Amino acid sequence: MKLAIIGTGYVGLGVGVCFADLGHKVTCVDVDKAKVTKLKKGIPTIYEEDLPEMLKKNLANGRINFTTSLSQGIKEAAVIFIAVGTPQDQNGKADLRYVLQVAHDLGKNLKNYKVIVDKSTVPIGTGKMVKQTIAKNYKGEFDVVSNPEFQREGTAISDFLNPDRIVLGFEKPNSHAVKIMKELYAPFKKPLVITNLESAEMIKYAANSFLAIKITFINEIANICDNYEADVKMVAKGIGLDSRIGDKFLEPGPGYGGSCFPKDVSALYYFARAGGYWFNLLETVMQINKHQREIIVAKIKNMVDGKLQGKKIAVLGLAFKPNTDDVRESPAIDIIQILLSRKAKIKAYDPIAKDNTHKILGKKITYSGNPYLCAKGNDVLLIATDWPEFKNLNWKKIKKLLKAPNIVDARNILEPAEMKEMGFKYVGIGR
Ligand code: UGA
Repeated sequence: MKLAIIGTGYVGLGVGVCFADLGHKVTCVDVDKAKVTKLKKGIPTIYEEDLPEMLKKNLANGRINFTTSLSQGIKEAAVIFIAVGTPQDQNGKADLRYVLQVAHDLGKNLKNYKVIVDKSTVPIGTGKMVKQTIAKNYKGEFDVVSNPEFQREGTAISDFLNPDRIVLGFEKPNSHAVKIMKELYAPFKKPLVITNLESAEMIKYAANSFLAIKITFINEIANICDNYEADVKMVAKGIGLDSRIGDKFLEPGPGYGGSCFPKDVSALYYFARAGGYWFNLLETVMQINKHQREIIVAKIKNMVDGKLQGKKIAVLGLAFKPNTDDVRESPAIDIIQILLSRKAKIKAYDPIAKDNTHKILGKKITYSGNPYLCAKGNDVLLIATDWPEFKNLNWKKIKKLLKAPNIVDARNILEPAEMKEMGFKYVGIGR
């Protein structure tokens, strides 16, 4: 099938490359000339496992190409995916400006029947707005579909190719779009959830918010465990084996971050309110998640006898989670900002997120080329991101390098007993 993808961010680029790899002919459209130039040369613009090889392979076999021209990009496509960003506006709502701009441009450029698929995460009612916006300028036939994406950063390719389910929301149950979309997704052999536009749009927000609630729940359980002799890892195991609960997303930490959960929880809260419902639970979740950063700061403060001013803190991990260089809403950055505001000095290391951190924090902190240099001479070492390589560092060496053997493990990657045996003053979360 011939496909067009508008937007080459985390979602658009991943989806485009995967569809090309499955044998479709894909044209990706982006307004950013520099991005398109890089992608045409096979240089990935995001850090994502398997992406570089798949991009090169499908450029070489001619199944994927990139353009800045919307009219050229959509000309031959049967299906057009809208995959542009829906960031959070100043009031916490989803900013639909990019989606609606694309809809406007599509209206000006459509010449024949197309299926327009919304892949961006958009509040209930956006599919209908897209329809109306296109229809202002294009009087021919077209269908709008909602097809939310559930891939995670870092594992976007494998998540897309092995989804738990595929959600498709249609305007009408028997439209031409139903046949085309079923055909497109048939090779995945995964459960299809076929519904109307509004339900599909809600599924995405409900899924992300539910996962955010699950993380927040285990964070609170961990905070309680901290006050008693209970180990949150065992508690998570004990509840996770109940198939009604499930064992995923039960790892406590510094609170969720990233480009999705914070903005989607907030957007659902606000569109619930706009529709007349006060989603108290989500309001509390947002507050608790923010406070979880403070809980980590308090653990660091306790390590240095209650005084952060002038103390030197080494931070391992800056990305919001491992296997990405994305620092958007990263707990590590939030914690560093709080520590800086309390006059602590920060030295940080991350395998790949340094450049993106530098754009936010600049010279307010110093950056190290490896974890050992980072540790050297500091009062406390904070593990802020669970990069797998941190688990296997030479901790005996780190103990010698630190000014004081203090570790706050905000991701529970180390074993408390082992660390204590090595002579560290160690605290995790809820252990
Ligand atoms: C999330 C969802 O998991 C995807 O299904 C969804 O498609 C995506 O948002 C999106 O809407 O685009 P992502 O933001 O890439 O994916 O990252 P996650 O792996 O879900 O992690 C989000 C945050 O939760 C991270 O800060 C992570 O450290 C934290 N987390 C996750 C925990 O603190 N504990 C856990 O047990 C799991």
